[in-house]
Amino acid sequence: MSHDKPVAIVTGASRGIGRGIALELAKTHTVIGTYRGRKDAAESLKAECGADIIQSDIGSAEDRNILIRYAQDVYGRLDLLVNNAGIAPRERKDILEATEEIYDEVLDTNLKGPYFLTQNAARFMLEQGHGRIVFVTSISSYTASTMRGEYCISKAGLSMAVQLWAARLAPHNIQVFEVRPGVIRTDMIEKVKDVYEEKAKNGLLPQGRLGDPVDVARPIRAIADGLLDYGTGTVLNADGGFHLRVL
Ligand SMILES: NC(=O)c1ccc[n+]([C@@H]2O[C@H](COP(=O)([O-])OP(=O)(O)OC[C@H]3O[C@@H](n4cnc5c(N)ncnc54)[C@H](OP(=O)(O)O)[C@@H]3O)[C@@H](O)[C@H]2O)c1
Repeated sequence: MSHDKPVAIVTGASRGIGRGIALELAKTHTVIGTYRGRKDAAESLKAECGADIIQSDIGSAEDRNILIRYAQDVYGRLDLLVNNAGIAPRERKDILEATEEIYDEVLDTNLKGPYFLTQNAARFMLEQGHGRIVFVTSISSYTASTMRGEYCISKAGLSMAVQLWAARLAPHNIQVFEVRPGVIRTDMIEKVKDVYEEKAKNGLLPQGRLGDPVDVARPIRAIADGLLDYGTGTVLNADGGFHLRVL
């Protein structure tokens, strides 16, 4: 039997941007939020907004299958998939020194994982006749950081994945979007936060401040509400104006 409320999966919902997205979506959706290792953080999300939480490693094909089957079996529907989970390289290293091991870890998590989770979700959405899919990419899709080349490559690939899935699913009432955050205050940037806070004030970000998870969650609210449905493939920047070219 199908559940009354729309259902959204948010990967990496235990902390940071994914948590902000889950809190926003929980106002209208039943949220299935995934985490990898931080069960404590996921439990606190559940306590805060009633999200259903599930341990699921985006890098594991088995976990991806189980996740989509879970939405199917427990709720009978999947209205929105938010591909948010992602990692920075464990060590920042100049591309002349960086290792294949870290490259594989970042690419498996940030690109292969969401690409194939989307394949699973899309097959189910095709059966149900509708759906929306969001990919959280990054300004690193088009900005070279030579101390974390694998991260930039993963996000550039993910931007192409958005175009591919948007084109493939457009005739089937399934809309696909890219949300491209700038520098957002989360655990991921903790070590470099002070440097970026300073840069943000000194002109790096035209809007003069770093972002918060809510700044990324709001555009996803608009997508979830169907306000962008005639614009499949659209890129939404959530970056304080970083993408502007200013002379
Ligand atoms: N923060 C930024 O400035 C920024 C800018 C642009 C784009 N982004 C992107 O936004 C997304 C979220 O970043 P964030 O800053 O919120 O990161 P974060 O604070 O480090 O949180 C990462 C989240 O992803 C989960 N996760 C990590 N690896 C996973 C895996 N293999 N399988 C499933 N879940 C996994 C974590 O789960 P646990 O809690 O269990 O570890 C956590 O919930 C990422 O894709 C990132 O690349 C971030």
